[in-house]
Formats: sequence, structure tokens, C-alpha cells
Amino acid sequence: MNRASIDQRVLLWFEKSGRTHLPWQQDPTPYRVWVSEIMLQQTQVATVIPYYEKFMARFATLESLATAPIDDVLSHWSGLGYYARARNLHRCAMLVFRQHNGHMPDTLEDLQALPGIGRSTAGAILSLSQGIPQPILDGNVKRVLARHQAVAGWPGQSKVLKRLWEIAEELTPSQRCGEFNQAMMDLGATLCTRSKPDCPRCPLADDCQGLATGDPTQFPGKKPKQEKPVKSTIMLLIKNESGETLLERRPPSGIWGGLWSLPEVRPGDGNETAETPSVERAIETSSPDIPASVAAAQSVVRFRHTFSHYHLDIDVREMQGAHHKADAVSETSDCVWWDTSQKLPGGIAAPIAKILTKSFGDLL
Ligand code: ADE
Repeated sequence: MNRASIDQRVLLWFEKSGRTHLPWQQDPTPYRVWVSEIMLQQTQVATVIPYYEKFMARFATLESLATAPIDDVLSHWSGLGYYARARNLHRCAMLVFRQHNGHMPDTLEDLQALPGIGRSTAGAILSLSQGIPQPILDGNVKRVLARHQAVAGWPGQSKVLKRLWEIAEELTPSQRCGEFNQAMMDLGATLCTRSKPDCPRCPLADDCQGLATGDPTQFPGKKPKQEKPVKSTIMLLIKNESGETLLERRPPSGIWGGLWSLPEVRPGDGNETAETPSVERAIETSSPDIPASVAAAQSVVRFRHTFSHYHLDIDVREMQGAHHKADAVSETSDCVWWDTSQKLPGGIAAPIAKILTKSFGDLL
């Protein structure tokens, strides 16, 4: 039995095997750590790194983020998904700039009062940037702790989550807390992985109760499965006589909020099945929701995009624009004719980038 305390073993492992060259670990100011934590909330490290570097090159300081137009922020987030994160980041920077003299707050309570910052993100900002002893509990740490202590149940359940927080509080040391927290995330990401944990190399294997059961992967318990509903939409690739394409800005809330997208016709009510897409049904039955010109338009791309809560079947139809410019859309600042050889007006979601790239080649 390895008698060293858990934090000693974890820190020793970190010195030899932890990650120390991630971009946000260099000059870990509260601002830089905060941006990285928001990007890392739903996205893997390898995906985040290039986005983080470009974002930081453009928004090097909290002030530069707070004073930037939202379109600029969203365009640097384009492709990362979960765009509410970028909108919250921007709102948060403006709040901190105005209400906290441009300095990130240094208490859990004040940080958690900001949009998009939960307890774990607040703990990560304080511990990683300033060594303030606060526990964290992101997905990787939940897995390590649930296994080490054989905590049954899905962490989405409040009693399971509460137990994991208690364990995190007990284990987090008051010295070298930032390194400990980083080490726990690294353990989860590199050794204590979801389906193939590398237990022989784990510093916590000796007293891991999950391993002692013979199947550590049963911890943490899985989320009860729910079928995702299928929604469908027709997106319009409307080109005018000058070869420009119509883009519309989406409303600030909801999917892809504030991002630029293609105009849509949306007959779906969310109850369709994959076998009977309602776009087809609506067109067959000449639904008044679908203008005849759209029904007649040629479908150029069809694919399924999957969100966390539903599948979206996207059918892209190409049509000429003069007619639509006049009566289907109004010319507002949320609606622009985009010259496809020029820069986009702002951020776009990955599936829209896919459609535009397929139609017009690489985007600027
Ligand atoms: N996930 C969340 N925060 C992280 C960090 N600081 N390093 C690696 N992965 C993370």
C-alpha cells in the first residue's frame, strides 16, 4: 500500500507526467485563465489551443475584450460551438471592466455572480492563477473522484454532485492547490479516461475503490439515455444578380445566437422522425409555410447536424435573389448581401461554414 497522502502522490505524478506547456499555463493571469476555462468548458484541449492563441492575440487584455464589438468576439469563436459562452465572456468582460475596475474578482462569490462562471470555473480561476485554495470539479475531476471513492450514480443528479464536491473539498490541499487541480484534470484527461483507464500508471491506483471493484469504468454512473428529437429546416442560399449571397443575423438568444447564418424556412415542430422529415411532408402537402419558389428550388446540400439536445436536418436550397430580396426578407442591419470573395460580416457556426465553403471555397 502506498502510504503517501493523495495530494502528495498526485503532485509527484504531476511533476513527472503532468501538462505544463499549455498556452494558458504560461503567464497565468486571472484573465488568461478565465478565457481558457470558458473555452475548455465544453471543448477538448487540442481543439481549444489554436482558438485560444488567436483569441489572445486579438484580445490580449480584459479591456480589449470589454471594448470590442460582439461581432468581433463571435468571429473569433466561430467553429468552437456553444456560442452563449462567447456572449457571456463578452458581457462578463464589460461588467468587470465597469464594476471591478478591470480586475477579475478574487473571491468565489464575486466570480460566481458573473455570467457563465459556475463554482468549478471560479475555483479554477482562483487556484490556477493565484494559488487560492479552492476545489474544482470539471468532468475529468468528477471521473477521477467518482472512481477513487467508488461514488455510484450519475453526477448530473444533485446528491451525487454534492458528494463529489465534498470529496473535492476534503482532498484539495491548501498548499500548491493550483498544481493539484491541474494535476487532477490531467490525470482524468490522460490516464483515468472514460473507457480505457491506464490504472497501472495511476498514482491513485493503490487505494482506488473503483479499481478494487474490478471495473472502474462503471464510475461515474451514466446519464440515463434519452432519444434526441429530430428537427428539420430549409436554409436558403439566395444569390443576387451580382453574385452576392444573402446572410441573416440570428436573434441574440437560442442556437447560434448573434451569429450570421442563411435565411431559413422552418416547417418543423420538433416531433418529426428521421423517416418522415417534415420538410418533405410540408412540401408535398403544399404547406402555406413553404413558398412555392422554395419548394421548387434545387436542393444543393443536405446533412444532419447534432446539437447536445437534438438533431437538426438541414436542407440547403439555392435560389435567385431579386424576388426574395423584395418580399421574403427585409433589408435591415441584420440582413446583408455578402460578397463571397470578401470577409464575412461576423461569426458563423461550423455547419454554416461547411455550407459556404462547399458553395464558394475557402472563406476569408
Ligand atoms: N479543462 C478545464 N480546464 C483545464 C485546464 N486548465 N487544463 C486542461 N484541461 C482543462
